[in-house]
Amino acid sequence: MIEYRNLRVAILGGGSVGSQVASLLLEHGAELAARAGAGLELVGVAVRDPKATRDAVIPAELITTDAESLILGADIVVELIGGIEPARTYILQALHSGADVITANKAVLANHGPELFEAAEQVGAQLYYEAAVGGAIPIIRPLRDSLAGDRVKRILGIVNGTTNYILDRMDTWGDDFDEALAEATRLGYAEADPTADIEGFDAAQKASILASLAFHTTVPLDAVHREGITSVIREQVHAARKAGYVVKLLAICERLTDAATGVEGVSARVHPALVPLDHPLAAVHGANNAVFVEAEAAGSLMFYGAGAGGIQTASAVLGDLVSAARRHVAGGPGVAESTHANLPVLPISSVTTRYQITLSVVDEPGVLAAIATLFSDHGVSVEAVSQSVRDGADAPTATLVIVTHEAAESALASTVTALAASPVVSSVVSVLRVEGL
Ligand code: HSE
Repeated sequence: MIEYRNLRVAILGGGSVGSQVASLLLEHGAELAARAGAGLELVGVAVRDPKATRDAVIPAELITTDAESLILGADIVVELIGGIEPARTYILQALHSGADVITANKAVLANHGPELFEAAEQVGAQLYYEAAVGGAIPIIRPLRDSLAGDRVKRILGIVNGTTNYILDRMDTWGDDFDEALAEATRLGYAEADPTADIEGFDAAQKASILASLAFHTTVPLDAVHREGITSVIREQVHAARKAGYVVKLLAICERLTDAATGVEGVSARVHPALVPLDHPLAAVHGANNAVFVEAEAAGSLMFYGAGAGGIQTASAVLGDLVSAARRHVAGGPGVAESTHANLPVLPISSVTTRYQITLSVVDEPGVLAAIATLFSDHGVSVEAVSQSVRDGADAPTATLVIVTHEAAESALASTVTALAASPVVSSVVSVLRVEGL
């Protein structure tokens, strides 16, 4: 029997992920030790409420409310508390004490990533976070390691399961937004306060993490343009399908050149978008996540799977735990987070993409020509127009669905303002970006 050196592992947080990590670590300890080349001894699980009901059983003798003492006695600290504080303080304490840290905490990374990575670099420790984006899906390590020799051009991610579930229900069951949200809440996907998911805050944090990693550039959270899905209506989703698209909340990270200034940089944005039905992301149903990566040499890659869930997320955490243990065995300093490219982070106004604009107009001679003129006056080129006519109470009305060629956000915004003010337009029904073409 091989004798391994023991590494002391402390878990902070006994919620659904924390309790599953503890349980799997105890159950598969011998196998994980053989993979890591070191014993992984769970020395404790710090919790707020020792009496709380847990998804997986943690032996009572391992439970403590004294997180700080636990941290000081550990070689590897696994932070699964979530939120900013006290998680940030505990991560810093652990790094300063020389421990490697594993976290699933997207909020603390998106808000304080540079501070935490710098602390890790100073002491030669490692900060791992595979579970922070996409739950069980391996995406951090592929971006950091497997694609380290390539150049990522763009990432299109479905990184929020709750909103994907809601939009998928609106598409496949014809639910309206409130019905789909209620079902997401009933199934436990949406929190009691669903704001972070449906307003895109959760996805924006993940976009900041992915963009920073993919482009070797710190992309701060406040530089991520964010729109949620609360204004998406059933009729839009239905019309999108008829036109060959599905509506998805996307996190989009891309390299781009600002057309006006010629500055080359990167951008990150989160908003609902139309995805062509034949794009692989269109097939991502329910609460699943997927990250579609376009790299210069590798071409297109897609990473797909469960974006949340206690045991699923625990899989990613345990993968990090084995990596951290291997590094302890090998010795040497941790590898610093790469931000060497330090590219300018460009605002949403630098982005060019295609748009679908749905207008309600009066069906009279000259209306189409007037609208076409408005588009050309603002430098936006129309690719396709479809029209459906119905009899209104006073006059026949038409719905126009216009798809543009690639256009600048600023040009599109001024076109929409002009359309809304035009006497021939009754209302601008919806404006959605088209991605993945
Ligand atoms: N609330 C997130 C989601 C899971 O719905 O995908 C955790 O990031």
